[in-house]
Amino acid sequence: MSERTLVLVKPDGVSKGLIGEVISRIENKGLSLVALELRTVANDIAEEHYAEHKDKPFFGELLEFITSGPVVAAVVEGPRAIEGFRQLAGATDPIKAATGSIRGDYALEVQNNIVHGSDSPESAEREIKLWFPNLS
Ligand code: TYD
Ligand code: MG
Repeated sequence: MSERTLVLVKPDGVSKGLIGEVISRIENKGLSLVALELRTVANDIAEEHYAEHKDKPFFGELLEFITSGPVVAAVVEGPRAIEGFRQLAGATDPIKAATGSIRGDYALEVQNNIVHGSDSPESAEREIKLWFPNLS
């Protein structure tokens, strides 16, 4: 049983030159790319993407950050792709993320944590539709 997840290399990951590193880790894990694109996020897409956080105190800064420069958006597929990529990413707070995870290895601050990965099948479906509406 294969599933899909939405992955973002956020602006900090792109500006630190970590696109290749993140993609390598995805491929090394045995997951496949079914869509991949460098793009700058419009504010309305960013708001929808992070809709679950709209009442959080960090929402404004989060939107500013995610729209601050190009991101790499990808749809990643494979058995247990959602949990698999969340494991590669590590905990949201890079200080709590295990060494060996992307966030554990490359980040220090919670906002600038390099990558996004969908957190459930429902989120994955919603986020993939939002970012890649024409993907079949
Ligand atoms: P969240 O969905 O909780 O984390 P994850 O990316 O691991 O699914 O939060 C979304 C993003 O919001 C998170 O990657 C970084 C940012 N964020 C903050 O800037 N401050 C915070 O206190 C939290 C919890 C998240
Ligand atoms: Mg999340």
